[in-house]
Amino acid sequence: MESGMNIIPLADYAAIVLAAGKGTRMRTSEPKALVPLLGEPMLYYVLAALEPLFCKSVWIVAGHLSEKLETAFPGHEFILQEPQLGTAHALVKALENTQVARRDFLLVINGDAPLATAEVIEEFLQKSSGCDLAFATITPDDPGPYGRVLRKDGKVTGIVEARDFEPFMLADFSGEVNAGIYLIRTMTARELLPRIANANKSGEYYLTDMVGLALAGGYQVKAVCCGGNTGLLGVNNPRELVEAEEILRGRIVEKLLDNGVIVHAPALVRCGPLTRIDPGCEIFGPCEIYGKTAIGEGSRIESHCVIRDCRLEKGVLILPFSLLDNAIIGENCIIGPYARLRPGTSLAENVHVGNFVELKKTRMESGAKANHLSYLGDSEIGARTNIGAGTITCNYDGKDKHVTRIGANSFIGSNTALVAPVTVGNSAKVGAGSVITRDVPEGDLAVARSRQQNLPGRGVR
Ligand code: UD1
Ligand code: MG
Repeated sequence: MESGMNIIPLADYAAIVLAAGKGTRMRTSEPKALVPLLGEPMLYYVLAALEPLFCKSVWIVAGHLSEKLETAFPGHEFILQEPQLGTAHALVKALENTQVARRDFLLVINGDAPLATAEVIEEFLQKSSGCDLAFATITPDDPGPYGRVLRKDGKVTGIVEARDFEPFMLADFSGEVNAGIYLIRTMTARELLPRIANANKSGEYYLTDMVGLALAGGYQVKAVCCGGNTGLLGVNNPRELVEAEEILRGRIVEKLLDNGVIVHAPALVRCGPLTRIDPGCEIFGPCEIYGKTAIGEGSRIESHCVIRDCRLEKGVLILPFSLLDNAIIGENCIIGPYARLRPGTSLAENVHVGNFVELKKTRMESGAKANHLSYLGDSEIGARTNIGAGTITCNYDGKDKHVTRIGANSFIGSNTALVAPVTVGNSAKVGAGSVITRDVPEGDLAVARSRQQNLPGRGVR
């Protein structure tokens, strides 16, 4: 957390995330809050921004496919809003929760505000102190679907939703819109929520109507300009999703550069928020690095690679066009080009995996090599063993998967098929083109192919 944070005592606060809406404009079958940006669901970002400030005092209002949200975010507090009658109705539901109702202040944030950061929320809280109702505003180039903030003589007079905005209101509109983050005194919410009606073009209960009601009732209301033009964009449709994703991407790449990672073609590098890339690494765009991937110092990821949930130790070299998923890569390994490492791959140090090699649930010990055109699945490869080009582990008998074990210092000739379950001992050799169906003892040479015949004069005539 940045220094200077958490100077506001937040014990009396509840943070409420509104995430019950259907997200109709996004056109996905998933709840909108689960739509991924850089590999993590939209709601992840909102929760990550709240957590440093509110710790456990965060409640998520869910409705549409709420069980999916609960599964995706275990350990979080959920409040059910069913049916979804609008953002004010979502807050009514939140206040039915006795834990929430006990707090003096409610920080309410739309679940589709993934660009919000702890720093911006903290700035908003500080500027809102002493208010009964405050809300954050931005000034985008185009007010689009946002609620328009109206002011008279500089003083806020209300928020009008885009659908209900009339030309005569233009005179009071300066381009400032509602960002969907509110600080509301709980007492004020309790008094005003019952007075919000749904007589508007959507037939929904708008939380934004609370602003007009609060002003009319003499409450202290403030519009707080935060996040500049684009710092708090909402995400309602695919276009807004990719715009927000691009902003998040830029922030992450900037941080990498600041931390001493050399990012070539930075505009083409996409890293998820949970990835950790140590200083002294070198990354070449275009590439994508997602999930909880951790990359150790001095590693180099060349272009066109996709890496998800992997651990790379120090000094690893990933050559172009490689795809790594849930793999562990030891120090100084060289992978690719065109390698595919599937879940359960685990490589000790100095392993080489070359082009068109696929590994799945396979452990390769120190210095082992599989440099060309192989499939190694459900297998264990001993230290310094060389797997020849075209070697295939036949791990599937049509019903079950079986294991192939190859000892240390062995040599598997090119184009060998190892029919699992099968074990090749240490320091063993297998002749090229063999189909190995029986174990090969330590130190032996196995040749399992038909002997060559030369038929004189029977060539091309
Ligand atoms: C809302 C604001 C608008 C603001 C914009 C900022 C209202 C009425 N309007 O509009 O002023 O400029 O956000 O992005 O609030 N939700 C519920 N329950 C519901 C309805 C919605 O939890 O019954 C949740 C949604 O899942 C979403 C959030 O509330 O995360 C905002 O709803 P959305 O429909 O996206 O409102 P906007 O039209 O974007
Ligand atoms: Mg929205």
